[in-house]
Amino acid sequence: MSTDPAILKVADRALQFVPEGATIGLGSGRASMAFIKALGARLKAGFKTRGVPTSEASAELARRLGIPLTTLDECPRLAVDFDGADEVDPQGNLIKGYGGALVREKIVAVASDKLVILVGAEKIVSQLGQRGNIPVEVIPLGLTPCKLAIQRLNLDPRLRATDGKPLITDNGNYILDCGTGPIADPQKLELDLRAIPGVVGTGLFLDMKPIVITGHTDRVEVRGQ
Ligand code: A5P
Repeated sequence: MSTDPAILKVADRALQFVPEGATIGLGSGRASMAFIKALGARLKAGFKTRGVPTSEASAELARRLGIPLTTLDECPRLAVDFDGADEVDPQGNLIKGYGGALVREKIVAVASDKLVILVGAEKIVSQLGQRGNIPVEVIPLGLTPCKLAIQRLNLDPRLRATDGKPLITDNGNYILDCGTGPIADPQKLELDLRAIPGVVGTGLFLDMKPIVITGHTDRVEVRGQ
């Protein structure tokens, strides 16, 4: 599948936020893959950086492109993290995880001094929840109790599966895609979801104040600098 030209421009613009010699977070999903490819080309031209990947897929691509990788054990603070998102509200709050890498993505985002989000204009919403889904990662043993507890929060949890088989995350867990409408109080929902035993993490990325680079058909917009 070819990458949306708007996302290629966003990935290119994001390169200006990579400090020479820094260790950075490498996100997951299509926009992040476009960024990793753009970064790989820059490294070929002599630029120096290294990355902490947020998924096995991102690690694999980075390795293939010769981008040096490290871990949060070796380097617990990162200069900048570059990642995609599934929804961005006017305050820069996010929903992530449609690609299934939400737990590692949140760990890396929180370990970073700055977060740069790369999206197409279709991800911009006036209120989180408008695209109808919050991914939540759960431990397999807790699947049914987690589902029941999430239903009590008035969400509609569905086990993410392909060809009838549950999707297994890079962490060995399941994803519950929780149907929702616009979320009145995302901070409260985050606390309620995280209080459920067996929930490993949610796709709500709140109060992180990211720089958001948005690809429109005719221009690239940067906000939050
Ligand atoms: C991966 O788990 C996600 O959080 C992605 O960052 C998000 O789904 C955006 O992906 P795309 O860039 O593929 O739309």
